[in-house]
Amino acid sequence: MTEAIVIVDFGSQYSQLIVRRLRELGVYSELLPFHAPAEQAKALNPRGIILSGGPASVYAPGAPQLPAWVAAMHVPVLGICYGMQLIAQAHGGAVTPSDEREFGPADIVVEHSDSPLFAALPASQRVWMSHGDALTRLPPGFHPIAHSPNSPYAAMGDETRHWYGLQFHPEVNHTPHGKELLGNFAYRICGVQGGWTPEVIIDQAIERIQTQVGSERVICGLSGGVDSAVAAVLIGRAVGERLTCIFVDTGLLRQGEAEQVITTFRDHLHIPLIAVNAAEEFLSALEGIAEPEAKRRIIGEKFVRIFEREAKQLGDVRFLAQGTLYPDVIESTAADRNVAAKIKTHHNVGGLPADMQMQLVEPLRYLFKDEVRAVGLELGLPPEWVWRHPFPGPGLAVRIIGPVTYERAETLRRADAIFQAELRRAGVERATQQAFAVLLPIQSVGVMGDFRTYADVIALRAVTTEDFMTADWSRLPDEVLQRTANRIVNEVPAVNRVVYDITSKPPATIEWE
Ligand code: XMP
Repeated sequence: MTEAIVIVDFGSQYSQLIVRRLRELGVYSELLPFHAPAEQAKALNPRGIILSGGPASVYAPGAPQLPAWVAAMHVPVLGICYGMQLIAQAHGGAVTPSDEREFGPADIVVEHSDSPLFAALPASQRVWMSHGDALTRLPPGFHPIAHSPNSPYAAMGDETRHWYGLQFHPEVNHTPHGKELLGNFAYRICGVQGGWTPEVIIDQAIERIQTQVGSERVICGLSGGVDSAVAAVLIGRAVGERLTCIFVDTGLLRQGEAEQVITTFRDHLHIPLIAVNAAEEFLSALEGIAEPEAKRRIIGEKFVRIFEREAKQLGDVRFLAQGTLYPDVIESTAADRNVAAKIKTHHNVGGLPADMQMQLVEPLRYLFKDEVRAVGLELGLPPEWVWRHPFPGPGLAVRIIGPVTYERAETLRRADAIFQAELRRAGVERATQQAFAVLLPIQSVGVMGDFRTYADVIALRAVTTEDFMTADWSRLPDEVLQRTANRIVNEVPAVNRVVYDITSKPPATIEWE
C-alpha cells in the first residue's frame, strides 16, 4: 500500500473511530500521537491528514500544538473539533472559550453546496457536537461552509489550499452522514485510490512476515480465539512448514474447543500443531483458589512454563507469533491517555515470557477486529470460528465463582454449550458480542418431580458492545432465555436454577471475576 490518511491524535476519545471509519471506506489510515516525529508521518506516504479532537483548550498553557510537519507535507488537511480550532489558531482566526458546552445532536445547514466536502450530501443534516470552546472568527483565506444554531462556523474551508475544519464529529454514528463526509475528504479531496481489502491486507502481511523471518522458524501459541488463529494461518502462508503451533488445553476451555483447534489446524489447514493436554496440571495448581486475581496469576504462570517447555523441545526457534491487535497498540502508545485504574489483569494466554529472548512476529498489529475477521474468512477459516465470541485467557476459571474443580468445570461447560446452541438455533448469536454462562458459588432450593432439590445456580450473561470497554446487557428474546433455562435445569444434573444478568458495564464488568 503506497498511500495513507494520517490521523493526528490530540487525545479525543473518538480518535480511534476516525481510523476505523476510513478503513471501512477502504482507505488505509493510521493514528499518530501529536508529538510523533515528521519522519514517522512521512514514512506512511500521507495523501491527507486529519487532526482529531481533544480535551484541551487551544490557548491553555501546554496545550498540544499543530505539528510543523502537517503544513510541510503539502497535502489536504481536515481538522475535527479541537483539530479545527488548532487550524484556526495557527492561521489567525479566533477561538473563544465558552462556559456552555455544546454537547449532543445539532442540525447544520450547508451554505456552500459546491464544497467537495459535502458533495452529494443533504443541505441540512443532523450532526454530533461535543465541544466547549468555539470558533468566533475565521482565519483569512477560509470561508464558512455550514452553520448550526449554536455554531456559526460548523464547517469551514480553504478550497485553494485544501484545508478544512469541522466543529462536529463525523466519525461517530450519531452523525448519520459522517462516514460519507470522511469518504468525500479521502476520495474527492485527497484523491486516494482506496483498495484496502482483505486480499491486499493478506498479501502485504505475507510479504512483511517473509522479510522479517527470513529462513528462520516461528512458533505460535493458539488460544482457540480468532486472533491467534488468523495470525497463525497468515504466518503459515508466509513460511510454510517452518511454523509450529502450540496449543495448550488447560481443561478450562469451552465444550468441543480443543477438538476443533486440533482438527482445523492439523487436518484442514495442515499446519504442524503440538497439542498439550495440561488439564490436570492446571486444575491441581488451582485447587482451593477462589480469589480472581490469584486464579489469573496461577494460570498465566503455568501457561508460560508449559509453553516454554514445549518450545525448548523444538530446538532453535527465533520467532514467536502474537495476535496483538491495533487497538492494543494504540492504547499503549496513545497521546495523553490516562492510565486507567487497574480493574483486572487481562493477560493474554500465549503472551511473551520475559526471559524467552525470541523476537515477536505480530501480523495483526495494524488491524482492527473486524478486519481480522474479514481476513480470517478470506483465508478459509471456518465461519463459526471467525465469528466466535471472545473468550478470556484464564478461560472457565473466571466463570466458576469460587474454587475450580473438574466437576464444576464440567457443569459450566455443559450449561454454556446449551446457551450457545440456543443462541445459534434462534439465529441471534451475532446480536450479542459476548454471551456465556457463569457458575455461582451458592446453592438454592428447588422442586423437581415432587422432590426438594438443593443445587447449583447458573447465571447467563450476554452483552452488546462495540469495544468491550463499556457494554449493555442484551435484550435477548424471551423464548431464547426460556428454552436455555429449561434445558439447563433438565440436562445439567447439578443445576436447578438459572438467572439472567441485567447489569451494564459500568458499573459491572462483562465477566463476573
Ligand atoms: P471485563 O470483564 O473486564 O472484560 O469487562 C472485558 C473483555 O475482556 C475479556 N477478559 C479477559 N481476556 N484475559 C483475557 O484475555 C483475562 O484475564 C480477561 N478478563 C476479561 C472479557 O471476556 C471481555 O471480552
